[in-house]
Amino acid sequence: MESPCGEDVHMSVIRLPMLPGPEKIPWKAKVNGKEISKHIESNAILLDVLRDQVGTLGVKRGCDMGTCGCCSVLVNGKPKLSCLVLAQEVESKEITTVEGLSDGHHLHPIQEMFSEYGGSQCGFCTPGFLVVISSLLEENPTPNELEIKNAIEGNLCRCTGYQQIVDSVKAASELLVSGNKIENTTTPKSNPNPGFEN
Ligand code: FES
Ligand code: FES
Repeated sequence: MESPCGEDVHMSVIRLPMLPGPEKIPWKAKVNGKEISKHIESNAILLDVLRDQVGTLGVKRGCDMGTCGCCSVLVNGKPKLSCLVLAQEVESKEITTVEGLSDGHHLHPIQEMFSEYGGSQCGFCTPGFLVVISSLLEENPTPNELEIKNAIEGNLCRCTGYQQIVDSVKAASELLVSGNKIENTTTPKSNPNPGFEN
């Protein structure tokens, strides 16, 4: 073959070696109190495993880059951004999603107070707020306003304000400290995520 300037050019095709894809590995964890056993790809992100394989669709994908808090879950009681965690990293740990906050037929106090004080926002940001606040109240049942704001600083809502959320946390704190039980009950479906039998 001749190049535009008249030189002979020998074309050769360089074949790059095929890189192996991610391997399937067994994965176990306790999700919302239930032992889960799956085969996952070795590079799978926890958010994807929870949504696509476990069926906990309450875990939301917002930014997918660690900036919004929508994907927050608890790992052994501590908030983590599931979009930034490899599922492998939490092998055999306890994971709590928003679906796991209620106690049987009773909502968690922060769920109840979100409803009462208008803390609930959209379905994308609310699960992350609830999960993070439940962890705050577990560690510190009487947080002051600054502590509440610090706890939720990684949870973004770009639509509305945060005052109702702060008010909800204060009310949930009072309820927890009083030891009173919530009268309202909810009736969970036997399988809230149809199609995902674990
Ligand atoms: S989706 Fe994980 S922080 Fe936004
Ligand atoms: S992001 Fe949920 S209400 Fe704004």
